[in-house]
Amino acid sequence: MENWPNPFIEQRADPFILRHDGSYYFIASVPEYDRLEIRRAATLEALPAAGAVTVWRKPDSGPMSELIWAPELHHINGKWYIYFAAAPTRALDDLGMFQHRMFALECADSDPLSGTWHEKGQVITPFNTFALDATTFFHQGKQWYLWAQKAPDIAGNSNLWLAELENPWTLKGQPVMLSQPEFDWECRGFKVNEGPAVVTHGERLFVSYSASATDENYCMGLLWIDKDADPMVPQNWHKSSQPVFRTSYEHRQYGPGHNSFTQTPDGQDVLVYHARNYTEIEGDPLYDPNRHTRMKLLHWDENGMPNFGIPPADTH
Ligand code: AHR
Repeated sequence: MENWPNPFIEQRADPFILRHDGSYYFIASVPEYDRLEIRRAATLEALPAAGAVTVWRKPDSGPMSELIWAPELHHINGKWYIYFAAAPTRALDDLGMFQHRMFALECADSDPLSGTWHEKGQVITPFNTFALDATTFFHQGKQWYLWAQKAPDIAGNSNLWLAELENPWTLKGQPVMLSQPEFDWECRGFKVNEGPAVVTHGERLFVSYSASATDENYCMGLLWIDKDADPMVPQNWHKSSQPVFRTSYEHRQYGPGHNSFTQTPDGQDVLVYHARNYTEIEGDPLYDPNRHTRMKLLHWDENGMPNFGIPPADTH
C-alpha cells in the first residue's frame, strides 16, 4: 500500500518508526517538547489511531529539563533504548545557540510501553557543544552512533559525526566527521547538517540528513558508502551535491526533513518525514507545532541509488 493519508500523524515532528518483532513502534517530538511517548501497532496503517503511551516526562530542572527533541527507539542486545536531545534551559548560549546535549534511556523489560525506563545519562562526546539528533545502526558486526554536533572551529550549527559504541550510551574511540554544511542548500537561514537516518540497499549504506533552517528552506541531503568500506575513513563516503528531497511549492509541502526509514511487511523501504503545509510562520519555526508526520515509499533506480521523489500533496 502506498496511498497512506497525508498528513499521516499530525503535529509529530522528527518522526521515527521502528519495526520490531512484527510490530511497528512510533516515537517523535511533541509540540510541548516535554515528554517521550510511544505508539505501537501491528501495521503502519494502524499507527495514527494507536494510543500514545508516555514513558518518560522531563524533570523541572537539570540537564534534561527543557526542549526534549527528536527521540528514537532502538532495540540493542535484547534491551530497549531511547536516544533524545534535551537542554537545561530554553535560553540560548553566548553563540546564540540552544544548549542541547544527548541522552539515553534504557528499558530491560520486553514491553517498552509498560516497562521501566532507566536514565543512563548523557552520551558524552569529545566536544562540550550543541549536540542532537542521534541515531544508531548495526553494521560490519559493530554498533554505531551517528549524530549532529557543533564543532568549535567550524562556523554554523551542526555537522554529522560517527563513532562506534562501547555500549549503547558510551562512545568508543574518537569520532569522525562525515559532513558539514558546504553547499548553498545546506546553509539557508542556518548552516545545518542534522537528523541523520540510515538505510541499506544492495552494496551500499546510505545516510540521509536534513539541512538549513527548519522553515521552507529545510531539505534533505544524502551520503553513502560501499558496505564493505571502513566507515571511519571520511574519504570512503560520498555526498550528493544536490538535495534529494526538498520543498514542493506545487504540492504545498514545505521544509520536508528529519526523516527515518522503515519497511512494509513485504520489504519495501518507506521514507518517514515531517513537513508543513504552509509557509507563513509566526515567530521561531521551532515553536510552530505543525510539522506533521508523513510517509511515502522510497524507490531505487537501476544503479541502486534511492529516488526520494517529490513530497506528495496533502490528501485531506
Ligand atoms: O524538532 C526539534 C529539532 O528541530 C530537531 O532536533 C532538529 O532536527 C530540528 O531542527
